Amino acid sequence: MSVQSEADNGLFPETGSDGLPVTSLAREFYTSKIWFDRDIEQVFSRRWLFACHISEMPNPGDYITMELGETSIIVARNKSGEIHAFHNVCRHRGTRLREPGCGNAAVFVCPFHSWSYNLDGGLRAAPHMPDIDKKCYSLKSVWSEVWNGMIFINLMSEQPKPVADYLRNADISGHELDRAKVVAVKDYLTKANWKINGETFQECYHCAVVHGDSLGKLINPITTYTAYEDSGDRTGDEGEVEFMIYSADLEDGQFAPGVKTESMSGQFVSKRLLGSGPEPQPARLISWFPNFSVGAWPDFAVIVDWIPVSAQETIFRTRWLVHQDAVEGKDYILDEVVELTHLTNIEDKKIVELQQQGVNSPAYIPGPYHQPLEDDARKYIAHYLAMVKK
Ligand code: FES
Ligand SMILES: [Fe+2]
Repeated sequence: MSVQSEADNGLFPETGSDGLPVTSLAREFYTSKIWFDRDIEQVFSRRWLFACHISEMPNPGDYITMELGETSIIVARNKSGEIHAFHNVCRHRGTRLREPGCGNAAVFVCPFHSWSYNLDGGLRAAPHMPDIDKKCYSLKSVWSEVWNGMIFINLMSEQPKPVADYLRNADISGHELDRAKVVAVKDYLTKANWKINGETFQECYHCAVVHGDSLGKLINPITTYTAYEDSGDRTGDEGEVEFMIYSADLEDGQFAPGVKTESMSGQFVSKRLLGSGPEPQPARLISWFPNFSVGAWPDFAVIVDWIPVSAQETIFRTRWLVHQDAVEGKDYILDEVVELTHLTNIEDKKIVELQQQGVNSPAYIPGPYHQPLEDDARKYIAHYLAMVKK
């Protein structure tokens, strides 16, 4: 069945006068393998995806793998310090070169017949095949880019617009995240579709209810996070829907009075602030379709991405960063840096899994979003629908 015929059958939600969906999606979008595969192909294979922070692969030969559906990518730093990304698929007979994970390698040697590849993906040697034209058998390359110390990859075949173009309205340069270091990474395997994770991340209608002991304490109950300044660009150059939310200064109205950062106390948890100037940087937040967010607080930063695993499983990954010169035990206590976001993540994991269970029921009928409190979730889904309707 084509997407268009499904649209004709009313599978897509109705839209309001603002062009945004007025209800959540039909069950199939959140439950079926067909839609999961389509999401990987039509969404995740056509967007910039966060891979990791540069501090996680500081040395030549450092690499990580990224798993996305049936696709596996290797992101590696070569001897010159450049970042390269390529498919984890041997050019001989297709074997995976590396198991999922990270490590350091001088070369990538295929475990099957020992074809070996340089750190930029070029074929180095194919045993007993002296006449092979090496330049024809490089690992299939993947676009990669570093933006503010964060590495992104893109599976598109044609060259994508640079990350900086998409995020041109979002300025976190003052936090100097290229001079930060990752001090903790946690994976939360949530038994919920990636869009349920994504919608929940965009709205704070639930914050007072779900996060009463964590995030809810920090937020101004009047404005809530829906008051994020929307300097983002939801209309791309070609008139396409884009989803990027940028809040320039959370202390200015979105945080409760006296709150300076996203810690349990609302006070700084790292003495060595981000950036190099004498003044603290403002608390800024970016959320970008389909699965990326960075909260750049004055004293630390949190990078979140949620990676689809199957129709009803998502890895919600969170990284915490402090200034590269901050010393644990002296400038910061790791538990204090991690505590609030970790608690918030556990609360979100529980609620999105409950939503998934309800959506799985034959009794589920898409219900109305709150307007305006869930407008950012509506915009997120609008972008999604624009991509899958193509
Ligand atoms: S499949 Fe990789 S060397 Fe044969
Ligand atoms: Fe939440």
